[in-house]
Amino acid sequence: MKNKKINSLAVVCSGGDAPGMNAAIRAVVRTAIFYGINVKGVMRGYEGLIDGDFIDLDSGSVSNIIQLGGTILKSSRSKRFLTEQGMQQAHEQLVRNNIGGVIIIGGNGSLTGAGNFTARFRIPWIGIPKTIDNDLSGTDFCIGYDTAINTAMQAIDKIKDTAGSHDRLFFVEVMGRDAGFIALQTGIASGAEAILVPEAGINTTQLIKLLDKGWTRKKTSMIVVVAEGNKNGGAFDIAAKVKKQFDHYEIGVCVLGHIQRGGSPTCMDRVLASELGVRAVEALRSGKHNVMVGEINRKTVYTPFEKATSGKLVFDKSLMGILEKLSY
Ligand code: F6P
Repeated sequence: MKNKKINSLAVVCSGGDAPGMNAAIRAVVRTAIFYGINVKGVMRGYEGLIDGDFIDLDSGSVSNIIQLGGTILKSSRSKRFLTEQGMQQAHEQLVRNNIGGVIIIGGNGSLTGAGNFTARFRIPWIGIPKTIDNDLSGTDFCIGYDTAINTAMQAIDKIKDTAGSHDRLFFVEVMGRDAGFIALQTGIASGAEAILVPEAGINTTQLIKLLDKGWTRKKTSMIVVVAEGNKNGGAFDIAAKVKKQFDHYEIGVCVLGHIQRGGSPTCMDRVLASELGVRAVEALRSGKHNVMVGEINRKTVYTPFEKATSGKLVFDKSLMGILEKLSY
């Protein structure tokens, strides 16, 4: 594609919200203005793109938002954008608004949508990785992940207080869709006895053996962190299976749910979002198109949408391996 000067860009937030999205919007808007580019914000993700729900953004519109969770532009999971008609309508809205480039702040599904759109139309897009699940290739960390693992860890710390006081075994379910990154990090950080993830799950017999060992070593309370995508079932299913063998033991279940997506972003997430926001605008200006901008070993990396959403994810099994010693 010829390197055409960009005079106007649109910024869109799509998919599940994640802490740090506002910091990314702020960085995109301020960087664009720095380079003399007009910015429009698209409301409600791809739904707003299809409906032409655009707002003008200036430097003042993004004041005092870096510390806020959620997204000032709102977000959605759009079914219409999966259709030819939806994409066609979105394209018409971009043309009508004279948009020369799009910055999409999104996760796996949203960047897949961006890949489908850019395969059909010529407007260049740049993706910024955002998902608490951390399940995109082409970046070490996605915006929102660091805040989510800290939120989940703090929640598990609190559950441990009550588990300890009442001699209970707790199964805590964390988010992550099909990925176990949140479970692995928070399980290690909160001193869990076991972690069940889709990538390296242990079966119920192995789990029961492990818990049994804990009890014989006079542990009176224990924590098992279960990833929502765990192959043998979620926290309630596993708890029910364990209860069958240990009905004398008090068992509690807690599904952390959407608290993991909310709250003020951590310092790490704010910095990552700020940096990627700047790099995304610069990428558009330099003629890059249809790539996600990420960071690997502190270096900026550009990955085509298709590779970012379908590349192999590296799950640190060695971290799982240290759990046996840590919980001994
Ligand atoms: O992708 C982020 C995520 O929070 C997943 O961890 C979870 O499976 C899903 O979104 C929940 O989505 P929703 O908010 O639409 O229920």
